[in-house]
Amino acid sequence: MDLGVCYYPEHWPQEMWADDARRMVELGLSWVRIGEFAWSRIEPAPGRFDWAWLDAAVETLAAAGLRIVMGTPTATPPRWLVAAHPDILAWDAEGRPRRFGSRRHYSFSSETYARESGRIVTALAQRYGEHPAVRAWQTDNEFGCHDTTLDYSPNAARRFRLWLEARYQTVEAMNAAWGAVFWSQDYRSFEGVNPPNLTVTEAHPGLRLDFHRFASDEVVRFNRAQSEILRRLSPGREITHNFMGFTTDFDHFAVAADVDFASWDSYPLGFLESFGSSEAEKRRYLRQGHPDICAFHHDLYRGVGRGRFWVMEQQPGPVNWARYNPAPLPGMVRTWTWEAFAHGAETVSYFRWRQVPFAQEQMHAGLNRPDNVLDRGGEEAAEVAREIAAIGPLPSPARAEVALIFSYEAVWRIDLQPHGATYRAMDRVFETYCALRRLGLDVDLVSPDQELEGYRLVIAPCLPFVEDAFVERLERCGAAALFGPRTGSRTQSGWIPANLPPGPLQKRLPLKVVRVESLRPGVESPVRLAGDPRPAEVPAEEAVSAETLSARLWREDLETDLAARACFEDGSPAWVEKDRWSYLAFWPAPDLLERILETVAAEADLRVSHMAEGVRLRRRGDLVFAFNFAPHRRGVPAPAGARFVLGGPRLEPGGLAAWRI
Ligand code: GAL
Repeated sequence: MDLGVCYYPEHWPQEMWADDARRMVELGLSWVRIGEFAWSRIEPAPGRFDWAWLDAAVETLAAAGLRIVMGTPTATPPRWLVAAHPDILAWDAEGRPRRFGSRRHYSFSSETYARESGRIVTALAQRYGEHPAVRAWQTDNEFGCHDTTLDYSPNAARRFRLWLEARYQTVEAMNAAWGAVFWSQDYRSFEGVNPPNLTVTEAHPGLRLDFHRFASDEVVRFNRAQSEILRRLSPGREITHNFMGFTTDFDHFAVAADVDFASWDSYPLGFLESFGSSEAEKRRYLRQGHPDICAFHHDLYRGVGRGRFWVMEQQPGPVNWARYNPAPLPGMVRTWTWEAFAHGAETVSYFRWRQVPFAQEQMHAGLNRPDNVLDRGGEEAAEVAREIAAIGPLPSPARAEVALIFSYEAVWRIDLQPHGATYRAMDRVFETYCALRRLGLDVDLVSPDQELEGYRLVIAPCLPFVEDAFVERLERCGAAALFGPRTGSRTQSGWIPANLPPGPLQKRLPLKVVRVESLRPGVESPVRLAGDPRPAEVPAEEAVSAETLSARLWREDLETDLAARACFEDGSPAWVEKDRWSYLAFWPAPDLLERILETVAAEADLRVSHMAEGVRLRRRGDLVFAFNFAPHRRGVPAPAGARFVLGGPRLEPGGLAAWRI
């Protein structure tokens, strides 16, 4: 468990660096990340490198005893490079080149940019690759952030055609796979294919899915090129990329295959404000963040990083970029840091050392104020450092017993044809995660390609394409399983399976989905659990007003002889089961989802415990952590006589406790 900080020596007079480095160490930080946006100062003019300042910064930080994560500066190609090679720019969906003036304006498909990026990464790695203080590299910065994965430039179009040719070999095979006959969309050559933008109405979903896959592969390729240079020129150093939460346009599992561990950038209050939370949640968790958003990403990136992850950027105070930017509760920065460690983070690094008085992020807090006085976030980081020293190393986090299947391609597939405007694969997975955590369970986020051995319960809330190999792995592992609606509803090419959904699952679950409908928000369809004492003829309004026990957003008609565990109000099956695998023909309201999960958890022999609102648990070896995101004090769900290593039997708002079992 290490702490670190993101630092921009190029933003501050050199006279400050030594004191900054000394104070970082004094605070208990051991890592410092630098360099990731510094291209214009490293190479102020084509081929003219100014290493003096960066050499001095590296030496100063190293002399203080800090370990350095060096960022490659490719998220910010400098003005002179853009002017000389406008073809490095990405184009937006309206067909306009992105402009210089912020960041991430480059195209993953530009050969010129591939060359330039290789050149600057090589230069940096040659200079610092074997420096004893440079212990790790970060490639680029937050791939895909600011909606920058999909690129509609001529470069992307050209490379997309090559990608299609490699995938299909013949244009006839491509036409057949897509079903291009529809609306006369057959192609006679790969050259005729364009990216799916600027069409009159919806472009062909086959084209769009492949364009998304291509765009994701371009990110993988771009990252891999940097990783290869760094491996060659900086032996023994670790490589990571800092992923951004809720960014789903490319496959993070695939990118992470080329790095040593995953890292992600955690901005709990920015996320609460910006992603999907209700108005009520935004007010309730205003200064603490949503109880599950960070935990979800920690568990996701532990999976993406094959067991290893860092928080590369941790919110230290108010951020600048959400619509509203409240300050965290006192103590929250400490709590977020411990939450990351509870979920297995190796290092938590704060963004940033000092609030910068100029430019886009001048309203973004740092560990220090602009006048260089330690801010509250800095004090809390120091507190964590003292606590880490007192507690000593934690045991490695064990594999959870529940696997929640998450696939980036599933997100793209549903986004292509959501059928209901608010139906998102990410939301379905996240809601399921929240419900599991309200039941006190630890969860691993797992890609459908990963091994499932050792899990007792596997849940796939939204997996439109199911590979036979996944079904086989699932059968082999012997876990109980729950599938959400739309599982197995598409083939690899995006067609409805010939045997109807859930396609390959029918081998184990004999049922057919014969009709689907989406429901607009506010429309609910009552669902009755088998054994539920309420009579079937409860008036619809009453059932709906009960808040619980209703289908939302989605409903399917099943043709099956399987016994129903839950029915719709007309008696048709809503949830069916066979041999501990079950299928949901609707999307459940949160309370119903929790009851369903409780049933399948019991089937998997898992012990659940209902958490008080806002309280969450996470185990790490023999330690149990409890966090309180509610704005009220809560009791700690620890056994009597628990031996606390952090906190005690009361959880203040935003507080935490940990005890040994
Ligand atoms: C991150 C980004 C940082 C900084 C930060 C502000 O997304 O990686 O460079 O912009 O947000 O919160």
